[in-house]
Amino acid sequence: MNNLKGIILAGGNGTRLRPMTDLISKQLLPIYNKPMIFYPLSLLIKAQIKEILIITKPDEQENFKKLIGDGKKWNVNIDYIIQPEPKGIAQSFILAKDWLNNSKSVLVLGDNLFFGQGLQVLLSSVFKKNNGATIFGYQVSDPERYGVVNLDKNNQILSIEEKPRKPKSNWAVTGLYFYDERAPYFAEKLKPSARGELEITDLNNLYLKNSNLNIEFLRKGFAWLDTGTPDSLLEASNFVRIIETRQGLSLGDPNS
Ligand code: G1P
Repeated sequence: MNNLKGIILAGGNGTRLRPMTDLISKQLLPIYNKPMIFYPLSLLIKAQIKEILIITKPDEQENFKKLIGDGKKWNVNIDYIIQPEPKGIAQSFILAKDWLNNSKSVLVLGDNLFFGQGLQVLLSSVFKKNNGATIFGYQVSDPERYGVVNLDKNNQILSIEEKPRKPKSNWAVTGLYFYDERAPYFAEKLKPSARGELEITDLNNLYLKNSNLNIEFLRKGFAWLDTGTPDSLLEASNFVRIIETRQGLSLGDPNS
């Protein structure tokens, strides 16, 4: 896919996973039999994205480079930049502005795992759209932990709220986002939130204000797992193990 680049954000302090993350980035911790970042990385590689940027904490970049390298073995090009401090997901676009060089992009969070037959087809159809942004919704039982979409009766987005105390729906915004070339320019307009971060939800709401925000619903048949807590980390490992041993499939493997 020409003129479409992929970004994996693997910054953050992983505070809820301490002390496991005291010495190592969360995205390098194992999910069953592979480091966590292999799962979002293989998602981008299988989606035919040839230019990939990995954003890490300053002191961890070497570890990621040693593990993943320049991407040649998968026929892609992988670059690295640092996020000096964890100042929010939307900051990725400010940091990556020059690297993006006015390309469209897919951002995936380094701690989000997506599985499902048809995901590649869905992604290619989203990538063919010419402008705007697309988010991917997933129904969860604990929406207050995530960005949450408020929908009208035609499933059009009315608003998105970040970790609302009283969520207006069960549709969480997953950590996979598609943006047109304006993302860095919109990100530069954002103000830090109460938690001091440039929120991806605020970037998405800017696209919404410009009538350019779409949503794809990942319904039954798709699995979206996040790995921010010890319980969710273990659940993700068990999930991968069950699929791999029962079905003989390999998940999170760019070659499979
Ligand atoms: C972030 C986003 C949130 C999104 C979530 C997906 O949350 O801010 O909107 O639903 O990723 O994993 P955080 O990782 O900051 O808790």
